[in-house]
Amino acid sequence: MTQQPESDPTPRDWWPRDWWKAAVVYQVYPRSFADSNGDGIGDIAGIRQRLDHLERLGVDVLWLSPVYRSPMDDNGYDISDYQDVDPLFGTLADLDGLIADLHDRGMKLVMDLVVNHTSSAHAWFQESRSSKDDPKRDWYWWRPPRPGHTGGEPGAEPTNWGSAFSESAWTFDPGTGEYYLHMFASSQPELNWENPEVRRAVYAMMNWWLDRGVDGFRMDVINLISKVVHDDPPDLRDGVKGGPDRQAGPIDTVRFGDPGPYVLHGPRVHEFLQEMHREVFARRPAGLLNVGETPATTVEQGLLYTDPARAELDMVFQFEHVDLDSGPGGKWDVVPMTSRDLVDSLARWQEGMGEVGWNSLYLGNHDQPRCVSRFGDDSPEHRVRSAKALATLLHLHRGTPYIYQGDELAMANVPFRDINDTRDIESHNAYRAALTRGQDPDLAMAAIRYKGRDNARTPMQWDATEHAGFTTGSPWLEVSPDHVTVNAAAQVDDPDSVFSHHRRLIELRHQEPVVVHGSYTRLLRDSEHVHGYLRSLDGRELLVVVNLSGTDGQEAGVPDAPAWASAELVLSNAGEPAERDRIVLGPWEARVYRRG
Ligand code: NOJ
Repeated sequence: MTQQPESDPTPRDWWPRDWWKAAVVYQVYPRSFADSNGDGIGDIAGIRQRLDHLERLGVDVLWLSPVYRSPMDDNGYDISDYQDVDPLFGTLADLDGLIADLHDRGMKLVMDLVVNHTSSAHAWFQESRSSKDDPKRDWYWWRPPRPGHTGGEPGAEPTNWGSAFSESAWTFDPGTGEYYLHMFASSQPELNWENPEVRRAVYAMMNWWLDRGVDGFRMDVINLISKVVHDDPPDLRDGVKGGPDRQAGPIDTVRFGDPGPYVLHGPRVHEFLQEMHREVFARRPAGLLNVGETPATTVEQGLLYTDPARAELDMVFQFEHVDLDSGPGGKWDVVPMTSRDLVDSLARWQEGMGEVGWNSLYLGNHDQPRCVSRFGDDSPEHRVRSAKALATLLHLHRGTPYIYQGDELAMANVPFRDINDTRDIESHNAYRAALTRGQDPDLAMAAIRYKGRDNARTPMQWDATEHAGFTTGSPWLEVSPDHVTVNAAAQVDDPDSVFSHHRRLIELRHQEPVVVHGSYTRLLRDSEHVHGYLRSLDGRELLVVVNLSGTDGQEAGVPDAPAWASAELVLSNAGEPAERDRIVLGPWEARVYRRG
């Protein structure tokens, strides 16, 4: 980190409370990052061998997707032991080594924290399912079959709620004749946070990791931890199906009822997060980061979660912009989206969070398709330019930018031929469900090709060799064929690469307080392709203008345009402009001007 004085003997004690406002986070999906032992699956030792890449890019924090013990039904988001590393990824000693390596390089490690649910293989669930009288029975949500029905038969589920993975949210457990609740796969039962013992166990585990040296947590679907799951009908209610008013998201509300009103932002969510803050973070020195993943969150809720005075979360991942292309049938019901839709949404969050809340800035992660394919243009003609344009738009917003592995190289969506080319449980369930509904397999596959999570999970492209330098073995998911041209080796030393553009954006954040603390003013509200905003702080101003289209000759009619056109050009993805009295942008051109 740039703020750290070299002479400080206790570097982890002096951090300002909101150090993360000036930071950039890089997400590593360990399974796909770097394989050190040739088993075809990335591991911690592999990450340790590739830290030069992160240092070169200039990021401050590594967010590590789960490496805990897990049956891997959901690639580690199904945890069976929170306090151990899965042998696929290495050992606790490897993780200690990674923490030490990162700290030596002035970087931090944020772990994924998946405590809305466990794996069904976790000892807690095994005990809970063993009998209705087990002391841990109440650690999960168990309910009897719908009155008048026999458990296990179609329609006997306690409610009609759908899970995010195209199934009922309830699975029958014949052992005790009851159903348990799961918002994701049936092997991911939901923990019951109403039970104080559950909360105590989670806080103890978090403190154990912080004592071990990790610097914070990315909290998986943390706005789901408070739920309203009444004991019996009529209070235990079905969700609403279909309809224009439903919130877009991953649930298929054509087949299932929407559980949203019962499981999202429940009545005690703020109380639980404040308690967690008191029990885990408040008693420790500054220098930690906690970021909540919060699907279906409005700006108003985002403010509640991130207002520092409320001591809940430092920032949230909101989902509005990644739900723009979902229709009423859920994630796989793909609907068109324009660049205006994207910018309108991002701007609403910029304006709404204002000076009180704090945004996580992201366009991609392990759950989303590649951002250059979704929001940019991954054709050979526009891939590089559009990836840089999107990064420029995003990084100079108010908030903390997150770079998902490979996005700094403009890795793109993958031409999966059929479902057997993919591994993701979400895609497989969705495909099966689509075929059961009688959908054309080609249409189902088209949606998966566009939105499937494996687009982001193919191995990291380090070089042009076989398997892209990811493994010497056989990769768990095929490397994307474009690795021969799109790879780190080709980009890190090239000043015109997408990688170098990201490096410059990160540098700018580190050097310019206006990027970190400046106010945000949206410009060009009515324009179709050219988007822009102003950041200002103490008389210093940055103007960001971006053409989010392949159309040439787009004039950015910002106020005071002739003066801006002759101001200092700090960053551009298309070289020096020809004109100095107007701002006219070429296809996917982005410029950043500075004055004051
Ligand atoms: C969100 C995670 O990011 C995703 O990968 C996972 O499948 C679900 N939560 C369930 O943990």
